[in-house]
Amino acid sequence: MRRLTKSLLVLALLGAGCGESDRPATATAAVRNYCGDDYVEVERRIDRLLGQLTLEQKIFMTRGEFPTPDIWTAYGAPELGIPDFVMTDGPRGAGRMLGNATAFPVAMARGATFDPELERRIGETIGIEVRSYARNVLLAPTMNVLRHPLWGRAQETYGEDPFHIGEMALGFIAGAQTQVPVTAKHFAVNSIENTRHTVNVTVDERTLREIYLPHFRRVVQEGRVAGVMSAYNSVNGAFCSENPDLLRDILKGEWQFAGFVVSDWGGTEANVNGYDHTIAAATAGLDLEMFVEKIYGAPLFGAIESGALDESVVDEMIRRQLRARFCYALDTDPPVADATQRETPAARALAREAAGRSMVLLHNSGGALPVTPSAGMDIVVTGPLADFENLGDTGSSSVTSGNVVTALEGLMAGASGATITHLAAPPATPAEETVVADADAVVVVIGLSTDDEGEAEIGAGDRDSLALPAGHAEWVAQLAALSDRVIVIVEGGSALDLTDVVADADAVVMAWYPGVEGGHAIADVVFGSVNPSGRLPIVFPAALADLPPFDNVSDEVTYGYFHGYRHLDDTNTAPLFPFGYGLSYTTFAYSNLVVEDASLRGRDTLRVTVDVENTGSRPGRETVQLYVGAPSSTISPRAARDLRAFAQVEVPAGETRTVALEVPVEDLGTWDVASQSFRVEATTYRVEVGSSSRDLPLFADVAITP
Ligand code: BGC
Repeated sequence: MRRLTKSLLVLALLGAGCGESDRPATATAAVRNYCGDDYVEVERRIDRLLGQLTLEQKIFMTRGEFPTPDIWTAYGAPELGIPDFVMTDGPRGAGRMLGNATAFPVAMARGATFDPELERRIGETIGIEVRSYARNVLLAPTMNVLRHPLWGRAQETYGEDPFHIGEMALGFIAGAQTQVPVTAKHFAVNSIENTRHTVNVTVDERTLREIYLPHFRRVVQEGRVAGVMSAYNSVNGAFCSENPDLLRDILKGEWQFAGFVVSDWGGTEANVNGYDHTIAAATAGLDLEMFVEKIYGAPLFGAIESGALDESVVDEMIRRQLRARFCYALDTDPPVADATQRETPAARALAREAAGRSMVLLHNSGGALPVTPSAGMDIVVTGPLADFENLGDTGSSSVTSGNVVTALEGLMAGASGATITHLAAPPATPAEETVVADADAVVVVIGLSTDDEGEAEIGAGDRDSLALPAGHAEWVAQLAALSDRVIVIVEGGSALDLTDVVADADAVVMAWYPGVEGGHAIADVVFGSVNPSGRLPIVFPAALADLPPFDNVSDEVTYGYFHGYRHLDDTNTAPLFPFGYGLSYTTFAYSNLVVEDASLRGRDTLRVTVDVENTGSRPGRETVQLYVGAPSSTISPRAARDLRAFAQVEVPAGETRTVALEVPVEDLGTWDVASQSFRVEATTYRVEVGSSSRDLPLFADVAITP
């Protein structure tokens, strides 16, 4: 009752407020969602400030600067109590260009944990380290759909599936925004590096709405993300920084985003005819130009002076910027530099935990893993990346940390008295071959590094094949000819062609870029103190030709409805490793799938339970995945199945746990172009449950009527 009275009062107040009278009630609800209970006071304060700020002052706030290379500032007006935004990257940790911070495993690795709660803790820790450098906005998470594994920035995002990305990004944002506001990036359809500034992606409405946008909608509506960074590329003919469909109509209109849109760095287009790009961006909904002035600042002033734009357009930009500053307490709780908050033992422990949880056991024949080390045992550690600090791309997501633990260092530290021999090159002499042949186990670390993939211009850009770097597979083959316990650790940000390696090796672990504590985490998995539970957040195809083409040369590309596991399902193609796949040192059996209702209506929730039994001899963590298909659907195209829910469960050896999963029926909707809305088709849906997108032993059918 009290809440109702308050919200009615609030509506009345907003209705009377300056500039608010024509806002629909839903906009008010969105502002409240964004800002919390103080929103009425905040909006009043903004109204007052808009009355006090001169046009020059407001214009000054519409574009950022970098007074020194390590400071990205969007000025406020300190004399009026409006703090500056001082921004920093990024998705793998804080401190870029500032100094050391905790380098977490890359987001793709964290995606493999399938654990939004772990991601929440990581987001919070990164937020703390951002504050420790007196920065007040974090440029993360990267949450683009990985359409193709060759994308140079694959490692920065969580995977290929919009539901999974949304869950992980919500976790990150919930944690990080306890410390600083964040900007979700890059909006939208940003998944090619080499042509990132020039490419126009043509994407049909259903593909856009169902594949490339749903996770962004969730972080706006459920995650109250403070800001959104527009992408460099164009979508359907308009630059993302001046795209009225994406920014004005969808993000701010339909989704009622109450925060600010910031351009990607230098991602605005300089005016060519008068104020053309200034007007396009301002009317489309770009609120802040970073980090150089091309279209806002002086040109924006000019556009207003000339009458081409109304000052109210600038007021709206400033309103949104101020809302972020005040709703996220940048004025009352400014960050203070504090070196003691960086690289704390707790943060490093979290990085180790996350890395251990992210590792995906791809292959394990004859119980090659785990290795139980003991005195008297001989272990060879080798491979091109064995003693390499492999934190990932050195582009905008880079983080520098002290004491990066390499695989070799981690394995030596965890060896429990076993003798570790490091071979820095493939065995070249009979003596070295004997060392390998006589070893109890051989651990070889191969894969990608920042020389192979990363951000364009400042990094290596896109890859051009799924192949391992030259010599890596051969190194493994040479070892496999000598030893019958060859354990391959693969590093990298995305899928690789591991066909030969899997054929040669006894065990293969995908370790991604495992962060500052990665070497310890590799040892935890190899030596069995961590039972691997990571799952592939992307499909590993058997061949490049099995995927849709990756065109990073043309400036015009078209994205179709299918990519990743949906594409392989649609074309009936077997992957090398499916989406959601990962082995454990134990085994699980699924039984007793119960769907609460055999038929559902409208906005109901699909509730499912399933029993998971640990049929092995070690405790283990299982990621239960629920996919939904609609085999009789009349809508085309339609994926054979979409991931709609997942949950993790720890099960002691020999025991059984019941896992509950829920799917809101409205999540099953497809975008209906005619009505411009999501519609749930009346049909029979197939609910499939299991441990990967290709291992779904249980299913049930549910009739759903809208
Ligand atoms: C990247 C962004 C990053 C920004 C600032 C851009 O090149 O695309 O992701 O936040 O630089 O480093």
